[in-house]
Amino acid sequence: MFKFISLAERLDFLEAVRFLAERAKIMLPESDDPQEEERARLKQRILDINLLAARFFNEAINSRHGEAAAGYLNKRGISQSTVRRFGLGFSYNEWDSLYKYLKAQGITEGEMLKSGLVLQSRSGQMYDRFKGRLMFPIFDVRGNVIGFGGRVLDDSLPKYMNSPETPAYNKRKHLYALNFAKNSEDTGLIIVEGYMDVISLHQSGITNVVASLGTALTESQGRILKKYADEIIISYDADTAGQAATLRGLELLNDIGCSVRVLSVPDGKDPDDYIRKNGPDRFRKLAENALPLVEYKIRMLKNEHDLDKTDGRIAFLNKAAGVMAKVDNVVEREMYIKKLSREYEISEEAMLSEVIRRTRPAGRQSLKLAKAVEAAKRSASPAESIEAKLIQNERFILSLLCVDNSIYKTLKEIFDIDQYTGGENRKTAQILYRRMEERKGTTPAELLNIVSAEESDEYARILNEECHCDDNQKAILGKIRDIEKLKMESRRDKVIELLKNESSLAEGEEAKLKLELKNLMQEINAINYKNLSREGRGK
Ligand code: UTP
Ligand code: MN
Repeated sequence: MFKFISLAERLDFLEAVRFLAERAKIMLPESDDPQEEERARLKQRILDINLLAARFFNEAINSRHGEAAAGYLNKRGISQSTVRRFGLGFSYNEWDSLYKYLKAQGITEGEMLKSGLVLQSRSGQMYDRFKGRLMFPIFDVRGNVIGFGGRVLDDSLPKYMNSPETPAYNKRKHLYALNFAKNSEDTGLIIVEGYMDVISLHQSGITNVVASLGTALTESQGRILKKYADEIIISYDADTAGQAATLRGLELLNDIGCSVRVLSVPDGKDPDDYIRKNGPDRFRKLAENALPLVEYKIRMLKNEHDLDKTDGRIAFLNKAAGVMAKVDNVVEREMYIKKLSREYEISEEAMLSEVIRRTRPAGRQSLKLAKAVEAAKRSASPAESIEAKLIQNERFILSLLCVDNSIYKTLKEIFDIDQYTGGENRKTAQILYRRMEERKGTTPAELLNIVSAEESDEYARILNEECHCDDNQKAILGKIRDIEKLKMESRRDKVIELLKNESSLAEGEEAKLKLELKNLMQEINAINYKNLSREGRGK
């Protein structure tokens, strides 16, 4: 069932658990920390209040009070069914109508204030945050209403007001309309600036569109995008603020390893204007032709310089060389160099030497490093597999610890945090060990919560398939022995490697290494022998 929901709703394991728990009205124990539990309870309460408010606003837009708002949407080409799908609404042009409604529903004033929908004046009067605005409920990925944006119906300012940060809403961690976009059949995700852009594109059948919520794209949002899409297309407004945001977003997404391109809407229009005038097919064409990072940067440079003048051309080519110098992929870099040198009739050699002159030392280093790693992988594949085995064994230990907390006594004695090799394993162990020290205990669900999204599937598999031992204590001791042996084998390989280059060894070093090697071989053999005889006796 969890697998089905996680596939059907494109949720990860934990999100699927929460999704089903909500459906079944089961409270998930978020934590045994009373403070955290209180936060979880408050969050749920705010979600309930938000849902009440969303219904209240939506009813208003369909009533006499909401005529102006409904008319405004109609004028902007938004259909009835889009209003329903996005749960759009209208906040009464009165100062406390939502307050009164929530009160009648049994919500306390304290809770209302925490939801951010209601404010209190200095004299103690309660009043609504949103007044006379077109209301956009903001959903999380599971479809809960976590907050609202509200737009004025005219040109007054501020154009939009948004819910404040609450236990349920953090604008840096959510993307508007991801709950719909994640189910889109289109590949990749398009990120735009505004609520109206999203709604207008979705209505035209382009449903792989989300918006960052009135902030520059954050790293959390970047990671969410990466989780749902192989490719991200940024389509921000063409004004200077939009261009700056585009560049920042590009760099951010590029840095966290997303493949990313830029869709520029012609004539300074926003995506909503464009699609209303030109239709979805033309917009899809724009998306197809979206520019990769480097090409986008070069396009911007072209616009900034007067290429008809010699100094303009020189300045442009110098800056372009700087952009290309940052491309780590050599093949890609050469392609751009060829293209530009042809376009501006300068020799490839001249362009190349300009680019190389600008290659950051760090860039060169990382290239060197990459080559060294490549070489190491080719020559020493057994070493790599030892590494992988170590990590896998450590994962088993951490998983079993969560299944059976009583093995912590043993781990504490003979396998401390420093003995974990992998970066993430060590970090995970730190958290779990700390919880055990604080006598809070730990559970498999918590483990899946702690590890990164990429690893949680593997942990879920280990928990399911491997953690059913007859004797957990024995299983742990066996694993620790395996790990010790693997570490010795890895050291053995390293010593052999060192001895191969004997000419580079200092005096006396060689003899020492040879002795170490002999000892290592003996110990490894002893463990192998013990294992053999144990297996012989065991079954
Ligand atoms: P835009 O001004 O581009 O809004 O701001 P829009 O969505 O295209 O709206 P229309 O077409 O004028 O109706 C982009 C986004 O920035 C945030 C909102 O999230 C908005 O959708 N924003 C903008 C605010 O939070 N506050 C503001 O005052 C303005
Ligand atoms: Mn707009």
